Amino acid sequence: MDKYNENLTDVKEIFRKGDLRAIPKPLLKWYDNNRRILPWREQPTPYRVWVSEIMLQQTRVEAVKPYFQRFMDTLPDIAALAEAPEETLLKLWEGLGYYNRVRNLQKAAIQIMEDYAGIMPDSYEELLKLKGIGSYTAGAVSSIAYGKPNPAVDGNVLRVIARIRKDDRCISEDKVKKAVEKDLWEVIPKDRPGDFNQAMMEIGACVCIPNGAPHCEECPLRQICLAYEDGTQQQYPNKAKAKERTIEEKTILIIRDAELAVLHKRPAKGLLAGMYEFPSMKGFCTAEEVKEYLTENGLQVLRIQPLEDAKHIFSHREWHMKGYLIRVDELAPKKVGPDSADWIYIEPRETQDRYPIPSAFAAYAKGLSMQLGIPRTMF
Ligand code: ADE
Repeated sequence: MDKYNENLTDVKEIFRKGDLRAIPKPLLKWYDNNRRILPWREQPTPYRVWVSEIMLQQTRVEAVKPYFQRFMDTLPDIAALAEAPEETLLKLWEGLGYYNRVRNLQKAAIQIMEDYAGIMPDSYEELLKLKGIGSYTAGAVSSIAYGKPNPAVDGNVLRVIARIRKDDRCISEDKVKKAVEKDLWEVIPKDRPGDFNQAMMEIGACVCIPNGAPHCEECPLRQICLAYEDGTQQQYPNKAKAKERTIEEKTILIIRDAELAVLHKRPAKGLLAGMYEFPSMKGFCTAEEVKEYLTENGLQVLRIQPLEDAKHIFSHREWHMKGYLIRVDELAPKKVGPDSADWIYIEPRETQDRYPIPSAFAAYAKGLSMQLGIPRTMF
């Protein structure tokens, strides 16, 4: 035995530290004792695995649970997803962000209905032909739902592997991800590929965490891990610096009369395409400027009250917002000003099941007693 493997007590075969072949045995043993009970895990149909994996690309497991349940209750199968009205889809996704992902889910569901007789394909290559499915999701669906030995490599898995091997290649590069996939293809256990992939993700999300010190004392792979050996875990992975976000300042207008409120539908393309929003003005405006703008748009302002400031961070931009709650004498049927032609007048409670509103506006939706997305008390 050499100095590299004297502590590898959990693996029958003797490997050097950093050798990926040493991962499956201790990892699966750990997974059997520590796996979380998750709705898509207990009933891993292809549809459920697919939808959950797309949702999990947006946010944490705990936040996904209520969204997943509601999605399955509303659209229980691929046929229902293929036929759903766009606003139902956006409403089910409201608060998750990256709304193109749910549009792609539907496009892929239509492909499955048309090209695969309504049955999600089981092969990695066929799955890759579906809209919105890349190597990670193809690997996850084919392994978890169909038991095929394909890896599912996301940021969590790339981090775990980079630390185990002290690999300083940049994980933001596609060629590095491809190389890791290739290496994992060699070691993924043929009898439990879905569990292997989920265990790797789980280690990445819960133990080998991205921000702050990883919980190495709980990690079944620490005896294999080169970064653990010399305490350099937090120097890995090497990642490209995020591009700086552009900052946009906006003034959000919550305009009401006695019954109705104003919304505006965003354009069909671009950021938050097709979602509904409150009217807004560029920059931070004073109450006087807002009043002038609304008067130009044919409204008689009775009262104007400042609301809290809010911020919303997208991947490449930040919205910094000021808001006003504005009471006007009467909304409908006046549509006279240059902007008001695009406004629609709704009863606030209609936003419960129509009118998807992005969570960027959550702070202001409160002003209308609207609840966006899934109530936080359900998380
Ligand atoms: N993160 C993404 N997919 C996951 C899964 N199937 N299990 C645990 N964490 C995940």
